[in-house]
Amino acid sequence: MSQNPKTITITDDGVTLPITSILTGRGFITGKSGSGKSNTASVVIEELLNNRCPLLIIDTDGEYRGLKEKFKELIHMGQSDESDVELTLDRIDRITDYALIQGVPIILDVSTFKADQQKSIINEVVTLLFNKEKEHRKQFLIIIEEIHEFIPQQGGVDELAQNIIRIAKRGRKRGLGICGVSQRPSAVDKDFITQCNWSVWHRFTWAIDKKAVNQTLGIDYANQISSLQTGEAFLATDWDETRRITLKQKETFDEGSTLYTSDIIRPTFKSDQSELIEQLRSIEGPPPELDPKALRTELTSKNSRIKDLENRILELKFELDSKSHYTLPSKSPSKPDTSSQTLLADSIESVKANKKKQTTTDVSQDFNPIWEIGQLTLYLWRVFLHAFLVILVKLLRIFKIKV
Ligand SMILES: Nc1ncnc2c1ncn2[C@@H]1O[C@H](COP(=O)(O)OP(=O)(O)O)[C@@H](O)[C@H]1O
Ligand SMILES: [Mg+2]
Repeated sequence: MSQNPKTITITDDGVTLPITSILTGRGFITGKSGSGKSNTASVVIEELLNNRCPLLIIDTDGEYRGLKEKFKELIHMGQSDESDVELTLDRIDRITDYALIQGVPIILDVSTFKADQQKSIINEVVTLLFNKEKEHRKQFLIIIEEIHEFIPQQGGVDELAQNIIRIAKRGRKRGLGICGVSQRPSAVDKDFITQCNWSVWHRFTWAIDKKAVNQTLGIDYANQISSLQTGEAFLATDWDETRRITLKQKETFDEGSTLYTSDIIRPTFKSDQSELIEQLRSIEGPPPELDPKALRTELTSKNSRIKDLENRILELKFELDSKSHYTLPSKSPSKPDTSSQTLLADSIESVKANKKKQTTTDVSQDFNPIWEIGQLTLYLWRVFLHAFLVILVKLLRIFKIKV
């Protein structure tokens, strides 16, 4: 893998980062809510996209789609109206091919999914990318927002956490880099933070977070970190001294300004990947457990099926009741039981009993005239034959004829 000599510029006063180290390394962007983390991540992403570097963003808050304002080649997948294509598990294999082989930048907006569904999606993505990179070995960056949710410091290490840590430890050799964003450094797996070769530390005010700053950057930085302004940060890298910087503001649309305001008209940005988007759309829909829309439809149809069956049971019960020669089981007829299970059991029993009764009565009541005439003819023929033989024997005796 050849080293990319290029750099990206992340501040207005010319602070740069080497592209290869960002694309294939481990990065961490942290700070309290509103301190500028997502802006910093967006600046890094915009700079990488300006250099046509391939990347995939795991967007947990639905705040990166504004990048499409400038970068039309981006494909946005999610469940919002602005998504180019709906995000489903079935489509992830193809997405990772587009991203890795064709270099198409991707935003996976998982903000509308439940926690376990988010984990399934992210796990599929990171596993496929790691496996495919064994063959392709292209420089490629995965950006994961709210990474403490997926590699927590405390709690069990699940499959997803193992796979993310595996990329952090072994991804670089394959060209695969990772950048985590989190507002809670104390909640992120320590192994991940200590493996990072570049990190950006925005403002923190809580003691527990300052402790994490102290453990990583040292006491001097921990003491100053609460005085940082929005957009200011400490930049720590493997290749340079730690220093205080002011990130530039991202160029593209700031989703943060409209995210929680319903009365502002949100712009729509079109992707120019219409052919790939069509191909993605043609990949069959999601497994039901992952798709809230499909789940809702299934639930509605199951509810209406239950209603239909209950009605049918009631109809059967009344039908059986009304037929005088059918006897319903004697189970508490005075106490009407509306439970569908009891009704079903009653109906089955009475249908069984009535069938038995029907088979015995039906045979005795059957009358077939042809069969009756046949039987009578046979009977007369037998009587005639018997009489003929008796007369023959008697005649032989009378005339003393020996046979
Ligand atoms: N470097 C910066 N320069 C100017 N404004 C910034 C900068 N960083 C953040 N902001 C402003 O602060 C707001 C919050 O930033 P954001 O990156 O969303 O914070 P966080 O992700 O830490 O919650 C943004 O909407 C943006 O307007
Ligand atoms: Mg943010």
